[in-house]
Amino acid sequence: MGRLKEKVALVTGGASGIGLGICEAFVREGAHVILTDIIKTGPGHKAKINCQSGGSISYQDLDVTNEGQWGKVISYTRRKFGQLDILVNNAGIASRRGLQEGSVDDWITTFDVNAKGAYLGIKYAVQLMEKVGKGSIVNISSISALIGGGGSVDYRASKGATRLLTKSMALILASQNIRVNGIYPGDIITPLNEEYLKDQNVLNDRISLVPLGRLGTKEDVAQLAIFLASDEASYITGAEMVVDGGRTAY
Ligand SMILES: NC(=O)c1ccc[n+]([C@@H]2O[C@H](COP(=O)([O-])OP(=O)(O)OC[C@H]3O[C@@H](n4cnc5c(N)ncnc54)[C@H](O)[C@@H]3O)[C@@H](O)[C@H]2O)c1
Repeated sequence: MGRLKEKVALVTGGASGIGLGICEAFVREGAHVILTDIIKTGPGHKAKINCQSGGSISYQDLDVTNEGQWGKVISYTRRKFGQLDILVNNAGIASRRGLQEGSVDDWITTFDVNAKGAYLGIKYAVQLMEKVGKGSIVNISSISALIGGGGSVDYRASKGATRLLTKSMALILASQNIRVNGIYPGDIITPLNEEYLKDQNVLNDRISLVPLGRLGTKEDVAQLAIFLASDEASYITGAEMVVDGGRTAY
């Protein structure tokens, strides 16, 4: 408890799944969290996040592909807190489209949310982090950015783009003491894939790929996000950290 005390954190796609898990965990660790999403009435907005730790939660509408909305959310953060210590670029959309199944529009939409969204987040968050003289940016990528696979062509490529965005920004922002790291989850059970995993055969198949013998939870990812966001990780930047039960260790 208290590993993020007094820190201000902005989380994108925070109304569901991994993003919601990160918001809950950050507040538990004492952070003031700005939960942002395109969902206005989603589970995150109804969630009663426990603020006994001294942390707090506030909600802002943010479509990560919309530059104007980024400007508004950063202005809100400046007015309300005067600082920003942590950005988690978590918002993402998945696809299971192969080469001939997807259209160019699908490709553009996936890249807009998964890659452009993270780029805009960094561009705007840095304006506030520079004032503090340090910061931590955590990009939620995917093991799909590290290993090839049959379907999800646009998803894999967009997450791969985020991987090198992470590394390049880590180099560019190091002199300002702003750290940029990537988290690469394996299969984590969230609303993103629960429909797909309802099929017992698919579920068993996915579990069989994981040396630790289970799929991940939002808490598994949140624990790593806490570490990377905190001062405990002050010498870590440009890193790619998998949280996948050993799936990519082969
Ligand atoms: N679940 C997994 O197995 C898994 C594995 C690897 C990586 N990831 C990544 O983790 C992140 C979170 O995924 P999840 O599983 O929690 O999914 P989820 O669908 O439960 O949550 C994603 C959230 O992003 C929001 N979102 C979508 N488009 C947005 C936009 N344009 N602007 C702002 N918010 C938007 C959604 O409203 C939703 O609340 C994604 O980037 C995903 O690619 C997930």
